[in-house]
This record gives sequence, C-alpha cells and structure tokens, in this order.
Amino acid sequence: MSDRLAVDGGTPVIAEPIPGGMHGPSAIDEREIDAVTEVLRSGKLFRFVENSNVGAFEQEAAARLGVKHALMVNSGTSAIICALTGVGIGPGDEVILPAYTFIATAAAIVGVGAIPVIAEIDESLGLDPEDVERKITPHTKAILPVHMQGVPCRLEKILDIAKKHNLKVVEDCCQCVGGQYNGKYAGTWGDAGAWSLNYYKIITCGEGGLVFSNDYDTYERAAFASEPGLPMWMSGSEWKNDPFSCQTYRPSEILGAIARVQLTKLDDILGHTRKLKKAFIAELSDEPKGYIRQHIDDPSGECGISAAIIVQDVELAKKYTEALRAEGLGAGTAYNEGFPDRHIYTYWDSILFKNSPNPAGYPWTDPRYKGNVEYSRDMCPQTLSILGRALRFGFNVNMQEDHARLMAAAINKVDNALG
Ligand SMILES: Cc1ncc(COP(=O)(O)O)c(C=O)c1O
Repeated sequence: MSDRLAVDGGTPVIAEPIPGGMHGPSAIDEREIDAVTEVLRSGKLFRFVENSNVGAFEQEAAARLGVKHALMVNSGTSAIICALTGVGIGPGDEVILPAYTFIATAAAIVGVGAIPVIAEIDESLGLDPEDVERKITPHTKAILPVHMQGVPCRLEKILDIAKKHNLKVVEDCCQCVGGQYNGKYAGTWGDAGAWSLNYYKIITCGEGGLVFSNDYDTYERAAFASEPGLPMWMSGSEWKNDPFSCQTYRPSEILGAIARVQLTKLDDILGHTRKLKKAFIAELSDEPKGYIRQHIDDPSGECGISAAIIVQDVELAKKYTEALRAEGLGAGTAYNEGFPDRHIYTYWDSILFKNSPNPAGYPWTDPRYKGNVEYSRDMCPQTLSILGRALRFGFNVNMQEDHARLMAAAINKVDNALG
C-alpha cells in the first residue's frame, strides 16, 4: 500500500465503512423477545412478585460480580444516587468527580443534596489522583471515580487516597459493565458500584441500573433510597436500619427479564470487543511518532470497547483527524469546536451555574454546606488540553478483527506521515 496519505490523493486504507452499532442492542435476539413476552403473558409486571425477574437479575449479577448485595433500579443515575445515599453522602458533603464523565454523575451528587467538586483527568482519561488530593477539603466525604468507555481509571491510587483521608468511594461503572481491574470487577473495589443498562451501554434493557456493595447497611440504605414503600412490599423483612422516604427508582419486571438475558451475553460481547482491541493493539505501532497511547493500569481487564491516542499538540491532532477521516476512519478530538463530546464538564451548564430547581439555590446554599466550591468553564485546563488532543476510537460487536487491524493501519500511516 502506498504511503501517500489519502488526504493528499493517495489510496485510503479503509475502503469499506467500518460497521457501527451499540453493544447490548446489537445482541438482542429471540431470547429477549421471549423473556418480555413471558412477563407480559403472566400479567405480573411489578417487581415484588414471586419468582421476580428483577430479584433473579440482582442475584445473578451479584454472583457474577462476587459481591454480597445488588439492587436493580431504573437507571444508572438512580444507581449512583442510591449508592451515594447508601454510603451516607448527603447535604453539606463534597464529592470529587472527574471533569470527563456524563453530566448524570454530577447530577446524582446534586440529587442527594451534596456538592460536586470537579477534578482533572490525566492520560488515563480518568481521574487524576494528584488533582484529587489537591481538591480535598474538610468537607470532602467521597470520591466518585468514573470508568469511561470500558477503561477502569487509576483505581489503586484513588483507593490509597481515599484510605488516607478516610473518604468513601463510589465507582461509576455505567460505561464499564463487566470491566475488571487487577483481577476484580470494576465497582467492587470501592464502597459501592453502579452500572447503567441504558440503550448505549455494554448490556442493556433500554433503561436500567444496578447498585452493588459488599456492605449490608449500604445496600439496605440504597434500597430505601430506591423505594419509599419497600417496608410495605417486604413486610416480613427485618430491617437493620430505620426506613426513610426518598424517591422511587423501581424497575419493572420487563426490564428485569431483558437484563437477565443480556447478562448471559456479557461474556460473549466482551470476549468479542477484547479480541478486537487486541488485534488493534497488535497492529498499532509500538513506537508512535506524534502521539502517546491512553494510559491503562490493567489492560487485561478493560472492556476493549474503545482506544484513545493523545496527540502532541492541538494543531497536529486536527491534522490527524482530517487525515484519518480521508483514510476512512471516523475520528475527532473529544474537545473541539465542532461536534462536542458532551461528556466534558464544560457542557454541564446546570452545574457550572449552580442552577437549582427552587429559588433557595439548594444544594449550594444549604446552610449545612460550609465550603465554597467555585466552577468555571476553564477550571480544568489539563483536562481540556488532553481532550483537545485525544482521538478516540470505538470497537463494537458488529466489527471483525480485520476492521480493528485496518483502523490501526490507518493510524500508523497517518502517524508515519505527520508525526
Ligand atoms: C459515565 C456515566 N455515568 C452515569 C450515566 C447515567 O446512566 P443512565 O443514563 O442510565 O442514567 C451514564 C449514562 O450515559 C454514563 O455514561
């Protein structure tokens, strides 16, 4: 193949479009359809029924994760809200989260009346442990690391910091269902973990979430946070904590039935995406000229649904983008003036402006909050610098290893010419 870049009139590396598609939805077949049909025929759509699908999903997910307790809820956001409530986070508390995540992570913190404190990411595209330490104040009660795009963040360092400062850790695994870190599932290292099962996630039931923990009190408090009527539906249970009333994040049996089937497909989905990522990495140059690879603490455990390269400077990243597109590989930096990646804090207006649903300005004006958090669009320059140079690529279940190899070949060609 000629070295001449397609952008300069050469032959593109990728002649046919790379297949797209979502992971979970692409795996839907007759089994999900049968499971839903069975629930509908039974007429029992409420989760607190005998032989509940939701209950079975919770047990099956807990067994897979190797945790004692799991609770299904109706979204990833509610899973984080219930996890935070479960570990005792509330008004007056600051929670540190990364500047690169979906706004729902920050919204969940506000949802429990606590204050989001936004910290930088580093070349792992996850929380920068050094900035986490800098952001700790006397009001900090928890760290909320996010495992973006199937890649666990620098958990070991984050857990050390949490231990040193006596902070809770709630892991947002919404984009990392089934991902592992040093041999244990993401989400099981901290005090609680949260999955999302929404349409875009690794497995899906349309909308759904899971909170999980090894601590019974955390689980029970998360359960109260998800369902004020819980003590009525489960009147025979012995509660260790006094029930309290919050919101209702109850999932239906239809969601539970789909989630159960999808969970059985998780190994196949991740087996495939990990194979794709392996083929991509094997083809990718070991000595790139113009970029570094995203840092990954434990490459063997990550989900294999994404790869990122971080180009030396913004101008060069723009040139890579243009050249890669001409080679047939869709690319773009995460932070740019074109189509924005809405997972960056700069797009979280409701947080940056401390907007509140009521004139009281809660939670930022809550008298129990003694801190003084400030936000601005340029408050995380390191994050903006990295994301302005980070090119991200996705792998999905509809792709074959040849596609992954071609993607790497296109990057190699562009890097050779421009790096
Ligand atoms: C990192 C992250 N956290 C939280 C959420 C919220 O999940 P859900 O949409 O299921 O509420 C998402 C979903 O997009 C996410 O990507």
